[in-house]
Amino acid sequence: MKKKIIVGNWKSNKTIAEAQDWLVTFSTLKLSVDDQKTVVLCPSYTLLALVKSFIQEHDLPIIVGAQDISPYDVGSYTGAVNAKQAKEFASYVVIGHSERRKFFDETPDVLRKKITLANTYGLTPVYCIPDRDAIVPEGVTIVGYEPVFAIGTGEPDSPVNANTIAEYVKKKYPFVQYVLYGGSVTSENVASFTSLPFIDGVIPGRASLDPTAFFQLIMQA
Ligand code: PGA
Repeated sequence: MKKKIIVGNWKSNKTIAEAQDWLVTFSTLKLSVDDQKTVVLCPSYTLLALVKSFIQEHDLPIIVGAQDISPYDVGSYTGAVNAKQAKEFASYVVIGHSERRKFFDETPDVLRKKITLANTYGLTPVYCIPDRDAIVPEGVTIVGYEPVFAIGTGEPDSPVNANTIAEYVKKKYPFVQYVLYGGSVTSENVASFTSLPFIDGVIPGRASLDPTAFFQLIMQA
């Protein structure tokens, strides 16, 4: 069986109280995964400490990820959270999500700097690309194929097309080991993606916001 990586992305959602509720409900579901499934959860920075300590205390099989990092290292960059700081809580970091590219004007150049810093501080980047023509910088081992039309729309890409793109990316960039699919993934459709040979996991957004929906999605993946 091939390894599957599931990266839940809460985006800019949840207060501390809401995150606490999610964690309490999720822990009652008693998730148990074998070493063929890696589950990563990416909350906002304000929630990282809470999520990390809850996971440790309750021994949940979840790894913490950050949704982004600064393109700059430690120093005078007001408002930025750098890779070294993120690493205190997280093991993974999402870089280049289309919402960062669109709403925060992030360019391939900026994204390349983030990849370098993530690797410098031991954060594993999950590098998102909107289509097969996007350049994947060296230093990336996990790519998320996330077509913009499928994000938050309830209209996922077809599994066959996602698989074709995953195969293309792996052939073009031999340093890429895993390609995940993101865009309207649910517990109902997740297996249609993860059962295909070149797709190694998924990046659910909305479906990660509800603990039961996320649990079911992990079980079906
Ligand atoms: P969605 O988001 O699951 O809500 O479509 C996916 C993503 O942006 O990664």
